Amino acid sequence: MNAHSQPPAAAAEPAPLIDPFGRAISYVRVSVTDRCDFRCVYCMSEHMTFLPRRDLLTLEELDRLCSAFIARGTKRLRITGGEPLVRHDVMTLFRALSRHLASGALEELTLTTNGSQLARFASELVDCGVKRVNVSLDTLDPGRFRALTRTGDHARVMAGVDAALAAGLRVKLNAVALKGVNEDEFVPLVRFANERGMDMTFIEVMPLGELEGPDRIDQYLPMREVRDRLAETFTLTETDYRTGGPARYMRVSETGGRVGFITPLTHNFCESCNRVRVTCTGTLYMCLGQEDAADLRAPLRESADDAPLVAAIEAAIARKPKGHDFVIDRATQGPAVSRHMSMTGG
Ligand code: 5AD
Ligand code: SF4
Repeated sequence: MNAHSQPPAAAAEPAPLIDPFGRAISYVRVSVTDRCDFRCVYCMSEHMTFLPRRDLLTLEELDRLCSAFIARGTKRLRITGGEPLVRHDVMTLFRALSRHLASGALEELTLTTNGSQLARFASELVDCGVKRVNVSLDTLDPGRFRALTRTGDHARVMAGVDAALAAGLRVKLNAVALKGVNEDEFVPLVRFANERGMDMTFIEVMPLGELEGPDRIDQYLPMREVRDRLAETFTLTETDYRTGGPARYMRVSETGGRVGFITPLTHNFCESCNRVRVTCTGTLYMCLGQEDAADLRAPLRESADDAPLVAAIEAAIARKPKGHDFVIDRATQGPAVSRHMSMTGG
């Protein structure tokens, strides 16, 4: 060892992104496509027009974007869509991002999926360091599943869930609670999930996107009612278990499992918001319920150097709003936010 050699510099912990309300933004959800093989009635219209491919970030651009967030302190990354697993070659992105897990810069890489491609990709996801997945499943009934998703194949999703569990992934099921649609299945869904070691989470339907078909005001079911319904069958006790997301969990004595509740409308969880979302075109939404956004695609494309991108991210976080004000607007019957969930990412 000569006198000039230095010990390797410890990788400096990046300063976290802090918003104007003192919240550290450490969780980013990135949509990699607006496309989906399903057409869930509360999410898409039957004949969706999808974005032209040139508008989408390439997989390389998505990697640069995610890596820039990680360089600025993002610890948890969730890949969403549309359906992320229908994006051509998406495993290249997971593979690339896994280097940040290996280095320790990123603590968690997850995805939200409709499960249709999970049988194909579960073990590769595990290879890339993915440990948990959220699978959307609103019903256990194949006919009802077809009606809700318009094009979905229930058996295929079930096979996907089985494959994910067999590959060693922790699976959480998400169901949108829909009055008159799946309200008789809340108990069976909890049993189904918990028996297989999965958490079951219910979500209130949100007024996103102009859609034809059943009105989401009529389908809206407050989480309190979902919980009361479950409490007729199960003994539910409060827990302080959190996964870093907005769900509140309760322990189900009878199953030994957990049930989660996400209440975007009735409960404002903005105070503890640690997240932002990026669309597949590189638009950064600082809040799911607000229109303000920042374009990250221009700085990504303007330079091979990441400095303009990082500057744009920092400028956007500096104006993250305090919170949203979702109301299902009975006067105008319109959505509170006009973009679809498949744009912003679930
Ligand atoms: N309200 C609530 N949840 C929705 N999702 C899609 N659209 C809506 C909506 N309008 C859910 C999906 C999936 C997650 C990505 O978002 O069912 O669980
Ligand atoms: Fe696809 Fe998910 Fe939207 Fe259903 S809710 S259409 S599975 S993106």
